[in-house]
Amino acid sequence: MECEKEVGNARYTIIISGVSKGLGRALALEFAKLGHIIVGCSRNQTKLDSLQDELSTISSLNHLLLNLDVRSNDSVKEMAQIVLHKMGFPHIVVNNAAVMCQGV
Ligand SMILES: NC(=O)c1ccc[n+]([C@@H]2O[C@H](COP(=O)([O-])OP(=O)(O)OC[C@H]3O[C@@H](n4cnc5c(N)ncnc54)[C@H](OP(=O)(O)O)[C@@H]3O)[C@@H](O)[C@H]2O)c1
Repeated sequence: MECEKEVGNARYTIIISGVSKGLGRALALEFAKLGHIIVGCSRNQTKLDSLQDELSTISSLNHLLLNLDVRSNDSVKEMAQIVLHKMGFPHIVVNNAAVMCQGV
């Protein structure tokens, strides 16, 4: 399966979970500025749409944002199939989606 990496002008496909806000969103924007392709997910469609708009102002690459819950194995498998089919193997996976539990 073909990857989208370009030798000498590295372009990576980067999966980031939890891109609707916080660290995941910031990483998505910074990686996009560096010329990489973002595949992101979270559960808030409005925030995903907002990020998609912002990404489109940064680059014309086909970034892919999916509305899914990473607690669902079926959803994560479906995302993996979509990525493999559309982009090939990802180069980097940032397993970021989570909630902070303080006091435990
Ligand atoms: N901030 C800190 O000081 C700190 C310190 C240590 C570790 N961390 C870790 O760093 C990561 C990011 O932290 P953050 O402060 O940027 O968190 P955040 O602002 O709360 O963002 C968390 C992201 O994860 C997504 N998310 C949460 N549960 C999800 C689920 N079940 N399925 C899909 N997406 C989900 C959220 O999107 P939706 O709610 O829209 O789905 C959101 O985009 C977390 O793993 C956190 O535990 C953070």
